[in-house]
Amino acid sequence: NLYNFRQLGPDTKVYGVIGKPVGHSKSPMLYNEAFKSAGFNGVYVHLLVDDLSKFFQTYSSTDFAGFSCTIPHKEAAVKCCDEVDPVAKSIGAVNCIIRSQSDGKLFGYNTDYVGAISAIEDGLRARYNISGIADLPLAGKLFVVIGAGGAGKALAYGAKQKGARVVIANRTYERAKEHADIIGGDALSLADLVRFHPEEGMILANTTSVGMQPNIDETPIPKDVLKYYSLVFDAIYTPKITRLLREAEESGATIVSGLEMFIRQAYEQFERFTGLPAPKEQFRKTMSKY
Ligand code: ATR
Repeated sequence: NLYNFRQLGPDTKVYGVIGKPVGHSKSPMLYNEAFKSAGFNGVYVHLLVDDLSKFFQTYSSTDFAGFSCTIPHKEAAVKCCDEVDPVAKSIGAVNCIIRSQSDGKLFGYNTDYVGAISAIEDGLRARYNISGIADLPLAGKLFVVIGAGGAGKALAYGAKQKGARVVIANRTYERAKEHADIIGGDALSLADLVRFHPEEGMILANTTSVGMQPNIDETPIPKDVLKYYSLVFDAIYTPKITRLLREAEESGATIVSGLEMFIRQAYEQFERFTGLPAPKEQFRKTMSKY
């Protein structure tokens, strides 16, 4: 019952998540249940796409109303949009595209960084018993982001905005360096990250696909260095708890699952897709089922 076929008709608005791989994405489940609970006439599907610009050329005249973008298309999506929100432009990645119903123009946004950073801030508030929302739990903290793709860039940008000192560690050093220079952070190769622990209580965020189903035995960083981190976040949500998060918790860190980022980044996407407030409780109900 993923697509609520009973509500499909000529007025149904069609949305999709573009990715490769994409079958693991829970977005169709999340949005279809939310559309139904909000009484919104829409349907949301998986779109397995190899070549993003070819996809938009082929489907430019069709009636898709909007898209989510996931691995590996978030950066290429910037170039495919007719207009890009300034924040998404600064990040260099788009994960939400709205297609104008009047002229078919594509508008790109980034909802990843708000979702991830708010989840990490709440994790820090819980760890350090901070109650006010006006506080700045990331200010001054050393924030290490693994990965320099679309998600990595979004997190590095968001952490920097919140006053953290940001280090980007990536398998391909040059890619980390390029983005670190843009946002005003430092760069490391992933190999060098193992020896990088200038202080205790750092924050670690994995944005690579290392550890994602079906490769759940993989982890981007050895367990013995996790003791230097007070909070570890993993953008992966399949599985909900990755090997990285399990080992971080065993090492005494507070952990934040990518599921929390996934739910929170969807709030803004839902609002952009429908013009309605996001049914936050419904999102949590849907995701608790899987
Ligand atoms: P996304 O948009 O979701 O961030 P992406 O743009 O394809 O996806 O970026 C994937 C990131 O994961 C990159 O930083 C990539 O490192 P490279 O720049 O060296 O390619 C990283 N990554 C992917 N597979 C990896 C692996 N097996 N080990 C380490 N890093 C990996």
